[in-house]
Amino acid sequence: MSAVPEEKINSQPVLVADQLSKHYTVRRGLFGHAQVNALNGVSFALGQGKTLAVVGESGSGKSTLARQLTMIETPSVGVLTIDGERVERFGSQVPPELRRRVQMVFQNPFASLNPRKTIAQTLDEPLAINTGLGRDERAVKVAEAMRVVGLRPEHARRYPHMFSGGQRQRIAIARAMIVDPRIVVADEPVSALDVSIQAQILNLFMDLQQRYQVSFVFISHNLSVVEHVADEVLVMYFGRVAELGDKRLVLSRPRHPYTRSLLSATPALRASDRRLQVRLSGELPSPLNPPSGCSFHPRCPMAIERCRREEPELREVDGRKVACHRAEETEG
Ligand SMILES: Nc1ncnc2c1ncn2[C@@H]1O[C@H](COP(=O)(O)OP(=O)(O)OP(=O)(O)O)[C@@H](O)[C@H]1O
Ligand SMILES: [Mg+2]
Repeated sequence: MSAVPEEKINSQPVLVADQLSKHYTVRRGLFGHAQVNALNGVSFALGQGKTLAVVGESGSGKSTLARQLTMIETPSVGVLTIDGERVERFGSQVPPELRRRVQMVFQNPFASLNPRKTIAQTLDEPLAINTGLGRDERAVKVAEAMRVVGLRPEHARRYPHMFSGGQRQRIAIARAMIVDPRIVVADEPVSALDVSIQAQILNLFMDLQQRYQVSFVFISHNLSVVEHVADEVLVMYFGRVAELGDKRLVLSRPRHPYTRSLLSATPALRASDRRLQVRLSGELPSPLNPPSGCSFHPRCPMAIERCRREEPELREVDGRKVACHRAEETEG
């Protein structure tokens, strides 16, 4: 892990998602098949040292997006660009050097660490795979990575089951950071932790970002967490972008009724004005039976006839992007 001097910080985006979509084919009945559009035309650009938070209910497509960004899967449609390199041109043979630049931290640090490997072995493995460093040089890097995530040298020879959830997540973060990634995609990285530990881990993420100018895609259903870490917020609904923009705009002056309903459900961020609160009723529609027009219309308190007919385009309103026919009317 190497710190980046201020003047070296690139103004080009490190990660660009251009209309990313992912379709899965699922079996339906005995012989039938159906297509699930888990992700639909998601676009954004992420700058160096910045955090994009992705929010949305369970099933909205957050983890599907994460799997495309980390190149675990190949998008059905759309282009991913990392450090100016279009990933699609490699087909399924993405070079290891490009893969190295995007690392992932998962929700459950109990499942994501190999129980049979010591912490030193766990951290050495990605270095052995991704670098040409010799054993001694790797040992120096492992010790440094442990130190920066707040683990003590004597932890090196212990196994994952000997650690608390928070410490295990520190190990998972060290494993991601040790190969000097440009981007870390973290999928609900604090959701499985005690509330008292969550803030410590969030602060660790932010310290690491300051120090190494790494960019984060931070997935969370918890808007209080998002408010703490994000620069920009991407609100997903039913595989699509509902609203995208600067954190201050999206969380304090939301334009999409769905963003409003998420905020209304978050006591710490709820608008004091009752008129601005939107209660979310019903459930996410089935991806096997998508609604016509705007996918949010069956649950939207502002839905009009046009919303049933016509899918709203993502467009610029009041400094952010929003996909709602009535975005101009939701000012508050
Ligand atoms: N491999 C797959 N095959 C078929 N459908 C899938 C597959 N992966 C995801 N889906 C569907 O895609 C949709 C989005 O799922 P995804 O896991 O991305 O949501 P999520 O936002 O991460 O939810 P959660 O908050 O529960 O983690 C869901 O309807 C899910 O059932
Ligand atoms: Mg998920």
